[in-house]
Amino acid sequence: MIQLHDKQFVPFISAKEINFAIAKMVAQIEDDFFDETPVFIGVLNGAFMVVSDFMKLYKKPCEVSFIKMSSYEGTASTENIKQLIGLNQDLTGRSVIVIEDIIDTGNTLEELIALFKQQNVKHFRVATLFFKPEAFKKDIKIDYVGIRIPNKFIVGYGLDYNGLGRNLPEVYQLKE
Ligand code: IMP
Ligand code: MG
Repeated sequence: MIQLHDKQFVPFISAKEINFAIAKMVAQIEDDFFDETPVFIGVLNGAFMVVSDFMKLYKKPCEVSFIKMSSYEGTASTENIKQLIGLNQDLTGRSVIVIEDIIDTGNTLEELIALFKQQNVKHFRVATLFFKPEAFKKDIKIDYVGIRIPNKFIVGYGLDYNGLGRNLPEVYQLKE
């Protein structure tokens, strides 16, 4: 068990399971984009770790860039999504694959889709390591999902509770 600020967390998903899920997404995307050089767009802060491990497994030509979005306050998602660092690259005609750490309500995803609608990309796809189907409120297709999880607050592997826990190599869930 670990303590972050005022809350306690218990082990939930091992580093091995995470790596397996990422490898599965890599295999699917390599296959779907075998004749392209996709641009992976990581959504900061949470996705830095999944993007890093994803890139190390992806063996074909590819590029990477990041944008920074923020919606969470404490352990709850808000509808007020802020774009803190924007896109600084021309993505016209490119195959863009957004890499998210987790999709919860889908508010951030909706904001991302609106943002990329303005770019004249060739393909737009979404990949997320974790997905909470019970919390998801949007009618949007998510192209690549690593691991589906119940509607519980998790930390580790890039995900934080008020800034802490991102450095944990495995995932913990809030102790009931
Ligand atoms: P959404 O906009 O509600 O889909 O939330 C997306 C963002 O909220 C993610 O990219 C995370 O940064 C954060 N988030 C969602 N669920 C969790 C969680 O269980 N733990 C930590 N952060 C989370
Ligand atoms: Mg995020």
